[in-house]
Amino acid sequence: MSVQKCNNTNDFRRLAKRRLPAPLFHYIDGGADDEVTLERNTSAFDEVRLIPNGLADLDGMDCSTTVLGQKINWPFFLSPTAMTRLFHPDGEKGVARAAERVGTMYSLSSLSTESIETIGVCTNGPKCFQIYIHKDRGMTRDFVDRCKAAKFDALCLTIDTLVAGNRERDLVTGMTVPPKLTLSSLASFAAHPAWAWRYLTSDAFELANVKRHMKGGGDLSSIIQYVNSQFDPTVTWRDAEDLIRQWGGPFAIKGIMSVGDAIRARDAGASAIMISNHGGRQLDGSTAPFDMLGPIVDAVGQDIEIILDSGIRRGTHILKAIAMGATACMVGRGYLYALAAGGEKGVDRALDRMTAEISRNMTLMGCARLSDLDRTMLQRGTPIDFSAAGRLPAIPAQ
Ligand code: FNR
Ligand code: LAC
Repeated sequence: MSVQKCNNTNDFRRLAKRRLPAPLFHYIDGGADDEVTLERNTSAFDEVRLIPNGLADLDGMDCSTTVLGQKINWPFFLSPTAMTRLFHPDGEKGVARAAERVGTMYSLSSLSTESIETIGVCTNGPKCFQIYIHKDRGMTRDFVDRCKAAKFDALCLTIDTLVAGNRERDLVTGMTVPPKLTLSSLASFAAHPAWAWRYLTSDAFELANVKRHMKGGGDLSSIIQYVNSQFDPTVTWRDAEDLIRQWGGPFAIKGIMSVGDAIRARDAGASAIMISNHGGRQLDGSTAPFDMLGPIVDAVGQDIEIILDSGIRRGTHILKAIAMGATACMVGRGYLYALAAGGEKGVDRALDRMTAEISRNMTLMGCARLSDLDRTMLQRGTPIDFSAAGRLPAIPAQ
């Protein structure tokens, strides 16, 4: 199978599984504990159905929106993800360029394998930088200054990862960062020579933004160990307020799941919230972002932008979120699978397929603008089972 034959997120996922050594595939694909939340993130969308309208005069389809001060052509942009170059050497640069080509925003992770400065010059598209507050608070101040110098447009602060989630797939596969040949992973690396060749012949792995602050230049044996030793679990809303002031531009808080935190984020001065459970990778058993969207929109939707992230696999998932009141959505694994499957070209194809789904389904919904989508076009609850009326009554057992 080639990327040209991949038509949707699931196809890219299947191809990524073939192309990546098992520890890397499962690091992307997996979630915390029993992965109940990972599954719920996507299935929550199926419980709400779309109600289309017809004959609506759809001249001039326009799916653009403005989020974090940036006009984007589509109502979704790309979530920040760690260590992208492990999956394909095109890495963060390839993903950022693909985002620019399709006319949307790219988010760069604190734990990226390309630096703020490199991404600053590799794309003219809108850029957001994601911050994890480290125990070394100088690092956070440094991030803000570097983002200003590199002309990033927005920042987001992730609040759901004070400790790393329990990713049991990583324990089974022997996932380490950078990848090491261990007894449990050896066979899988050997079975993927194309990946191994690309990995060994491209620039060496590094956590490009944080390495200057780390003893040993950023060598670490596991991302879990890194998060648990370096991230600061004592951060508070006061720190968020300070960061918002220091940055002075569009600012989102990522990982909001409750109405209370949405209100606190607004009161702290954030311009946006990202309702997210980190793609089900942190607190298993937590509710899905889509399940919380309605109540959060009702509480703060007039005051701040609302971005929905986690579980999005289809264009219709995005339309449902917009109809419920979100400003925009973000996609994580949706582009990572494509990168692993086919590098930058794979991401191009995934974004093209997603944008085609959005505009086709907007047409089928009878909507020419995102503002045409509203809650009257959503149905929740069990639909009436009309088929029962035509059924023969069951014959009682003799
Ligand atoms: C992530 N995510 C993430 N979030 C963040 O704020 N900083 C980070 O460094 C990372 N790293 C990361 C790595 C990988 C491999 C994945 C899959 C995810 C979470 C990400 O931003 C986003 O919230 C989820 O990916 C959204 O869920 P879906 O779209 O993957 O279902
Ligand atoms: C993850 C962390 C690094 O989700 O954010 O793997």
